[in-house]
Amino acid sequence: MSESLNPQPSSADDPAEGAASYTPPKWRSEPRFPDGPAPDPAGSHHERRIRSFQPRRSRVTTGQGEALKRLWGTWGLDIDGHEVIDLKAMFDGLPVVLEIGFGMGEATAQMAAADPDTGILAADVHTPGQGNLLALAERGGLTNVRVANGDAIILLREMLPPDSLAGLRVYFPDPWPKARHHKRRLIQPEFLDLAATRLAPGAVLHCATDWEPYAEQMLEVLTAHPRFENTQPDGGYSPRPDFRPLTRFEGQGLDKGHVVHDLLFRRTEN
Ligand SMILES: C[S@@+](CC[C@H](N)C(=O)[O-])C[C@H]1O[C@@H](n2cnc3c(N)ncnc32)[C@H](O)[C@@H]1O
Repeated sequence: MSESLNPQPSSADDPAEGAASYTPPKWRSEPRFPDGPAPDPAGSHHERRIRSFQPRRSRVTTGQGEALKRLWGTWGLDIDGHEVIDLKAMFDGLPVVLEIGFGMGEATAQMAAADPDTGILAADVHTPGQGNLLALAERGGLTNVRVANGDAIILLREMLPPDSLAGLRVYFPDPWPKARHHKRRLIQPEFLDLAATRLAPGAVLHCATDWEPYAEQMLEVLTAHPRFENTQPDGGYSPRPDFRPLTRFEGQGLDKGHVVHDLLFRRTEN
């Protein structure tokens, strides 16, 4: 928890600033934790697809590193795109919600503790956050969290069966504010096409953002998508649900005076 969410805010590749193209960083060529998360599990730097995140060198604290070494083998999962996951086996039959981009994982751990009857598959590329969430889960005796390392798009596309998710959470995705980087934003029609196939009918996609133009984009593309319907009868933003804790990134946005919007859209039955 001592790590900042964006350790290199000055980098030209920061999602808050963005970069036009992606160059694989050299530091990702070797795993830093031999039995921990792989540095590039799907070899996705070879995939020229535009990505919603920017890999960054991040300092891992001793506690996070210890948690990765001790717990990764049991609770961790590399998103290598190689096989379809048996979620029922992984979560002992619990309904499973995917959270994309958990950051440092504090909100994820709180939600898992508050709802032990739901499994949370939490995906991010951020190694310190992965260690942090594992440590929080261990400390809280949480058995309903698994930490997935890598690009959640590959997880959805290659590793999750159709109709398998009871929910999808995307809290404060990278805003990519510059116009030339908008293509990197996660919530776009193509993403919704994919998400709709992995969510069970009736399952809810829950997004939140403090970036007003992104909130407007989310509302527009979700409203237009034929396989999602707004849970708000007036077709607008939702009040923040009690079950969503304040996230780290949200706190930073609130400190800057940003307004937070939640959007809860249900996958249609068809
Ligand atoms: C702005 S942070 C928000 C973190 C956290 N949800 C919060 O509110 O504090 C967005 C996170 O999403 C992650 N991310 C972005 N695209 C991703 C993807 N395709 N797969 C996995 N993680 C992704 C980033 O690494 C980053 O940690």
